[in-house]
Amino acid sequence: MQRSRIIKVKDKTFAVSISERTLKGQIKRIAEQINRDYEGKKPVFLAVLNGSFIFAADLLREIDLPCEISFVKLASYQGTSSTGTIREVIGLGIDITNRPVIILEDIVDTGLTMAHMIDTLKKQNPASIDICTLLLKPSKLQVKLDVRYCCKQIPDDFVVGYGLDYDGFGRNTKDIYTII
Ligand code: IMP
Ligand code: MG
Repeated sequence: MQRSRIIKVKDKTFAVSISERTLKGQIKRIAEQINRDYEGKKPVFLAVLNGSFIFAADLLREIDLPCEISFVKLASYQGTSSTGTIREVIGLGIDITNRPVIILEDIVDTGLTMAHMIDTLKKQNPASIDICTLLLKPSKLQVKLDVRYCCKQIPDDFVVGYGLDYDGFGRNTKDIYTII
């Protein structure tokens, strides 16, 4: 089926920028790295809701380690600009003491969300914490952040699709779209 190259989400227009095929290829590449790096370990994946739900589902099916997954909900975004305030909505619900943790995030923008999450998780003494993000906007980073796994770096433009939203809409596409 032919998919639209241009979509409208609420009042904004977006053009396709990362295809489903590219996403799948990059996710496979990252999963292979994790499978190698975590050999002999039993990691806990922590997917950051809502944006990472599709990424987490696709990545986890490429992981062949014994592993668990749990979901944490944080929010730092309203519309297309960061509000700078971070709220923890849904807690952990899994004991991560002495466990290797891999955070799954849809996109790292300023990095404040990840920095906050790592501070919170460290209090529970996990064996290690790695960040695994689908997308990274390197030019927007405001904090020093060690992103071990990144599927794709992108320019500083707002994107939607494949789980990422604009004001709650636009998550339900197979490709990623950039605002135009
Ligand atoms: P940070 O704390 O500034 O790194 O913001 C990270 C969060 O902002 C991500 O988890 C996303 O939910 C959201 N975000 C940042 N950039 C975008 C974007 O281009 N599209 C959709 N959501 C975004
Ligand atoms: Mg998010």
